[in-house]
Amino acid sequence: MLQAQNLSKSFITPRGRIDVLKNLSFSISDGSFIGITGKSGAGKSTLLSIIAGLQKPDNGTLAINGTDILSLDDKKLSMFRNKNIGFISQEQSFLENLSVIDNVRLPAFLDGRKHSKAEVAEITKRARELLQKLGIEHLAASNPATLSGGENHRVLIARALINSPSILLADEPTDSVDVEQTKAIIQIFRRLADEGKTILIASHNPEALKLCDSSIAVI
Ligand SMILES: Nc1ncnc2c1ncn2[C@@H]1O[C@H](COP(=O)(O)OP(=O)(O)OP(=O)(O)O)[C@@H](O)[C@H]1O
Ligand SMILES: [Mg+2]
Repeated sequence: MLQAQNLSKSFITPRGRIDVLKNLSFSISDGSFIGITGKSGAGKSTLLSIIAGLQKPDNGTLAINGTDILSLDDKKLSMFRNKNIGFISQEQSFLENLSVIDNVRLPAFLDGRKHSKAEVAEITKRARELLQKLGIEHLAASNPATLSGGENHRVLIARALINSPSILLADEPTDSVDVEQTKAIIQIFRRLADEGKTILIASHNPEALKLCDSSIAVI
């Protein structure tokens, strides 16, 4: 469950003050697939990064799975994020000296602990299962730089899912892929939502928004 009340965010820029989010309220139940719409510069990416806990609104409240994430200190917030939220940002990139599977596994090692051999094996198994589920298991050993745009997006989705988050946020997930790949990627999100994950995508693309349950308009 994701509940936002009166979220507001402004930026002071050389152009003056811009009000990006204005008293935005919404409630999203588990297993929903939600599109975030609005023209370029409306604040879609800002909203996703607030939900991901990467920046704070100026006003408003935000509860994720019952936790008031705006009141968490940095350490608790980053632990909360790592466990609950998968985020694919608009400028996502890979570590190019690591293979596809090592990129996918990476976030599982970022919980500040040393992992036993058995845990590493379990993480590797999970990464392989995700690659398989996303139809890119054959690319496990490849370098991400050698993949197509659509393949890249799938690796990003796998990496965002490695810690089994209940919420997946994706910013323009079908940018720079063709219609076929757009359909395939959106089908993946639809399936994940049907399995119980909450999916939010920011998108301009009507094709991508078709399979959403509903949308939040940022104006
Ligand atoms: N850190 C910042 N400092 C100043 N202005 C910012 C900052 N972040 C975002 N903005 C401005 O806030 C507005 C909203 O930005 P945002 O990236 O959320 O838009 P968007 O809806 O995702 O756009 P697009 O569809 O082009 O991705 C833009 O005008 C942007 O320039
Ligand atoms: Mg954006």
